[in-house]
Amino acid sequence: AAIEKGGFAHFMLKEIFEQPQTIFDSLRGRLDAKKGTLTMGGIREYAETLSNAKRIIIVACGTSWHAGLVAEYMIEELCRIPVEVEYASEFRYRNPVVGPGDVIIAISQSGETADTLVAIEAAKEKGAIILGVCNVVGSSIARLSHAGAYTHAGPEIGVASTKAFTAQLAVLCLVGLKIAAEKGSVTPQRFQHLLDELDQIPEKVATALKLDDQVQQIAAKYKDARDFLYLGRGYNFPVALEGALKLKEISYIHAEGYPAAEMKHGPIALVDENLPVVIVATKDSYYEKIVSNIQEIKARKGKVIAVVTEGDHIIPPMADDVIFVPSADELVAPIVSVIPLQLLAYHIGVMKGFDVDKPRNLAKSVTVE
Ligand code: G6P
Repeated sequence: AAIEKGGFAHFMLKEIFEQPQTIFDSLRGRLDAKKGTLTMGGIREYAETLSNAKRIIIVACGTSWHAGLVAEYMIEELCRIPVEVEYASEFRYRNPVVGPGDVIIAISQSGETADTLVAIEAAKEKGAIILGVCNVVGSSIARLSHAGAYTHAGPEIGVASTKAFTAQLAVLCLVGLKIAAEKGSVTPQRFQHLLDELDQIPEKVATALKLDDQVQQIAAKYKDARDFLYLGRGYNFPVALEGALKLKEISYIHAEGYPAAEMKHGPIALVDENLPVVIVATKDSYYEKIVSNIQEIKARKGKVIAVVTEGDHIIPPMADDVIFVPSADELVAPIVSVIPLQLLAYHIGVMKGFDVDKPRNLAKSVTVE
């Protein structure tokens, strides 16, 4: 087992550190930034159908659902097609309005999650086109889909998903770009810029992984907190949800993810000197707004752990702890900003003495409804 873990204490840590490679693998053979081309073999036949979609419905569970939320923002921005993101279990049980002209994107690491599988079976019967984004090759969801794009992250052993998530984000960005190119809804400049950004992502993730020691110190400082709040806006809102989910799953600390601006409609009532608030506030079009959210938390004595872009001078003096990540276009920034949150959850879980690879009550793949 020690050999399988490649020298790491846990599969989860190994998988976190594999991400520069796994993201590279998910882009390899598809993206050629120098030539400015993007090849997606598994959706080629359906490229036109996808670009003509009336709307896109994303169905998934857990971490894959969070990747779906990022994809909603990506696809709406790039393709100008309305996107809905559904929990597979909710979607399937309410006789959803879906039919010809709709495209379903099913996101699943295992490709075996029962709720997701049954949801797409129903939608397929009603005439929707299914695009599968799975990690496990030949899995049930992959086989049921009309078109697909594998994430190629390799086998994920840790129950808490890490490398599958960042591979999903990379591939969903490629899918969005492919549809947008087909549709003509993205300028050639923006298309090329995003190809370049994706091309640089594995390196930026490698840089973010160097934060490990620092994140471990932050973990030691806050590991005894009873609750955590995670906040983000825009593309980083789902990152906040994912950070909170990671912490819950492996440290058993109650954590909530929230869109930062929505905080004032509830969670702000929880803020006091005992509440660590992790704020994902990298430089993007929402930046000014999130700065004022940080002020609101500090005014109530909350402890702010801020994930910011390298070179940021505004947030650091306001925060209790600051984590600097490399700058990236906001569309791909979640791939980088989630890294310290994965590490934070990992270290807190380990410090509390829990089995982070096999958290209690959770299964790697939920094949029952
Ligand atoms: C379980 C796993 C999660 C995963 C979710 C969806 O809850 O513990 O890590 O995100 O299922 O799984 P899928 O294989 O469909 O992505």
